[in-house]
Amino acid sequence: MLKRAVVLAGILMLVSAGAVSAADKRLIVGGTLASVREAPWAVALTNSQSSRPTGRWCGAVLVAPDKVLTAAHCMLKPVSTYTAVQGRAELSDDSTGRVSGISKVWIHPGYNTKNNRNDFAILTLAQPFTQVPVITLETNPKADRKGAVPTVYGWGDTADTGPDDTLQKVAVPDLGDDACLANKEYVANGYAAASNVCAGNGTGDACQGDSGGPLVLNGRLLATVSWGKGCADPAFPGVYAEIASAAKALRAQI
Ligand code: ARG
Repeated sequence: MLKRAVVLAGILMLVSAGAVSAADKRLIVGGTLASVREAPWAVALTNSQSSRPTGRWCGAVLVAPDKVLTAAHCMLKPVSTYTAVQGRAELSDDSTGRVSGISKVWIHPGYNTKNNRNDFAILTLAQPFTQVPVITLETNPKADRKGAVPTVYGWGDTADTGPDDTLQKVAVPDLGDDACLANKEYVANGYAAASNVCAGNGTGDACQGDSGGPLVLNGRLLATVSWGKGCADPAFPGVYAEIASAAKALRAQI
């Protein structure tokens, strides 16, 4: 976690360990257990250089039998150190699920480490996860609207609101772009209405280790976990990378 936070600090100051006080360090925070049956397309991206015993690193989502979508900021390590894991709710339980190495990494050419725009990477699986339902991309920019209640999935930090490294889900209110644009720190950090979704509150949020994982609305992939200051801090919502803004570029890789 610490090592991971340090690595990420170079990418985005707001997610560095220093920006997360002990008090607001919570897990997917405020969620409940999710089964692999209800979220078969949820993929954990592990890394052999992770400081966690399970190798937990980031979230990802299956968009084609041989392609997973994750966050560009998750891809700082050599390709050979990554493993995609599907169908394993408890990452420590290697008697279930499927694993695959990564044969190719595509980083969105518009990915910007200063403002974190286009925080997307598409990984090609060496061993495709065949016969697993894939998720459909949301292409309508209007799907991101205040009042919608999408659900985020991930194996990330729970801040003691659930077991670690175990697939959790939590419904998060879409607060609308204005809520994040009203936050000076978030604007300074690159929040943009066209390319981000602002969601979560003091009880439910994504957290460290959930990056790249799916935010799902009406069965479609609305966005992927990107960044936030702390976790489940009512003053600092979760920021997601909005799929509709990049759907064309992503589709071309799938
Ligand atoms: N950047 C984090 C990661 O790499 C995700 C942070 C999401 N934070 C939040 N409060 N929603 O896992």
